[in-house]
Amino acid sequence: MRKILFAVIFLLSGTSLLRADEGMWLPSEIILKIKDMQEKGFKLTAEDIYSINNSSLKDAVVHFGGGCTGEIISNEGLLITNHHCGYGQIQQHSSVEHDYLTNGFWAMTRDQELPNPGLTVSFLDYMEDVTEQVMKGYKKGMSEEKRTELIEKNTKKIIEKAKKGRSSVSVSVKPLYYGNQYYLYVFKVFSDVRLVGAPPSSIGKFGGDTDNWMWPRHTGDFSLFRVYAGPDNEPAPYSKDNVPYKPKRFFKINAKGIQEGDFTMVYGFPGRTNEYLFSDAVKYTAYKSNPHKIALRTLRLDIQNREMAKDPAVRIKYASKNANVSNAWKKWQGEAKGIIKMRAIENKQEFEANFTKWSEGKPEYENLVSRFRELYAAIEEISLVRDYQSEALNAVELVAFAGRGQRGAERFYKDYYMPIDKDCFIALYKAYDKNIADKYKAPYFKEQLQKFGSVEAWAEAIFTQEPNLEMAAEIYRNTNKFFNDNFAPVLDSVNREITLLYRTYMMGQMEYNKATRGMKVFYPDANSTLRVAYGQVKGYSPSDAVYYTPVSSLDGIIEKDNPEIYDYNIPQALRDLHAAKDYGEWEVNGSVPVAFIATNHTTGGNSGSPVLDAEGNLIGVNFDRVWEGTMSDVVYDPEICRNISLDIRFALFIIDKLADADHLLEEMEIIR
Ligand code: ARG
Ligand code: GLU
Repeated sequence: MRKILFAVIFLLSGTSLLRADEGMWLPSEIILKIKDMQEKGFKLTAEDIYSINNSSLKDAVVHFGGGCTGEIISNEGLLITNHHCGYGQIQQHSSVEHDYLTNGFWAMTRDQELPNPGLTVSFLDYMEDVTEQVMKGYKKGMSEEKRTELIEKNTKKIIEKAKKGRSSVSVSVKPLYYGNQYYLYVFKVFSDVRLVGAPPSSIGKFGGDTDNWMWPRHTGDFSLFRVYAGPDNEPAPYSKDNVPYKPKRFFKINAKGIQEGDFTMVYGFPGRTNEYLFSDAVKYTAYKSNPHKIALRTLRLDIQNREMAKDPAVRIKYASKNANVSNAWKKWQGEAKGIIKMRAIENKQEFEANFTKWSEGKPEYENLVSRFRELYAAIEEISLVRDYQSEALNAVELVAFAGRGQRGAERFYKDYYMPIDKDCFIALYKAYDKNIADKYKAPYFKEQLQKFGSVEAWAEAIFTQEPNLEMAAEIYRNTNKFFNDNFAPVLDSVNREITLLYRTYMMGQMEYNKATRGMKVFYPDANSTLRVAYGQVKGYSPSDAVYYTPVSSLDGIIEKDNPEIYDYNIPQALRDLHAAKDYGEWEVNGSVPVAFIATNHTTGGNSGSPVLDAEGNLIGVNFDRVWEGTMSDVVYDPEICRNISLDIRFALFIIDKLADADHLLEEMEIIR
């Protein structure tokens, strides 16, 4: 019954209801979208995208290290992902003598490829709808506790069965549509993954945080790895005797290029979206949570940037931290603006009003909207206090480090600069004191503040020559305990009820949609499972009188090049190649393409995803979204939302002309 309902809804949404290019679809159910894909130019079949019995495109897509996507591009396990996805590994191999972050790294032979303990690459073996097995024994009217217990018990059995007799597999059952459907995922996990190549950061991170989330973009955001297997081609722990993995499938590379309007598809592991959120939650994001978090991070960034500009050693220490703080800071701004510009809150309110009218006399749905309103109102204040807990109190490095038991001390101190942390403490704790109501402040916080007379004086006592770890730990313990004892339980229990409501609301939205042919296209929110998005190469207008074309080129890098500005200071070798117009076969109209935008619906986690053409060949590597479209995690606008991909030809150009690593090009299958 449940299954049939889902199929019907999927089919419905495949027709005229479709808002162009929105959606992150399940590969195993792509049959329901294939007609639309083909109408838009796709030349292959559903079976080519995902097949249980034969090799299919999915066999070349991997979950890279948990948070990113990667893809296999040769018969010998060669893998491409983003530079920012391999950043940690590149950094770990770097030292003053071998600074691969600055200079890049290229293994010229297989023995030069560098192992990365802890890094894994996972291939999806199969996925399967296990809703029926998960719900086995469920009876209508069962209590939530019983239901949860039952699901846990059934899930355990399903997982055990899937694991039986197999090693190096990772098996999980994940809820979709807020627990209306369950899928089993079985992955093969490889743990011998070696670094093969990375361009200098001045290419791989070109534009830095200034250009991050922006179009036009000129970042050569790629790095290369190789998956190794035991002699039987199965996963094996690192060993010198391991051999390059022979994949079931690898992507051929289309070097013939792309044009505006071309079909594109992104195949990867999007992390988290909230497309079915209640209006009050969207309002909270756009008007409360994001603005406060942005303001707090602005304080931190201003301090970091000021100190980083003064001293190159400090700049190196804080490069990665600064990038992390800045990444979400910038995204939240784009997201809030996008939500407001799109009138997403008003549109949702209108939908909710219609839904409420429709639901009259339907007991399971008729009180949903008012209940959501009550629950969100009940936690609005505490949610903000929690935001301040993580973005202000615990954002002081010393407090978090001391409070969490001084784990990773060596690394902590290597990248620690006390003047930054001290000023952050002062700025953040002042903001907390000012913006958070007294009743939410821990007595300890108030006592200390009173004792010292000011946040500045308090800071003087903690950030002494030898930082006072005991005091920092006390702050962490006391403020977190106060929050956890007094407010977290309410917040958690209300959030649990909200999650449950979404399960019903999701079902309700689908039924409502079926009954009225409403607006929304249904696909499960992203949850780090494999998805297909498709669309076309396309420019956009971010604001009045501005139009962005969809392809950037090396000429744009040269325009931005500036030896005075760290983020725009390209390697001399690239300047030389440009001056000599030494582009080899990668030249297009007197330049080399660098990046392009398209309408594929993506999110964090899609970094490194293969961007494929109509024939399933690799044309790019996804690495970002445009700033004005970052609200697509909550609401997608086909006019504005664009993913940003590295044009694969730029990677080939760098490998060929800058790295002289012809042997890598030779193992790829390039369609010229
Ligand atoms: N915005 C991209 C993402 O969300 C790239 C982040 C890394 N780059 C940076 N400059 N911080 O992950
Ligand atoms: N850079 C993001 C990532 O690391 C992708 C950008 C986005 O959020 O779409 O996954």
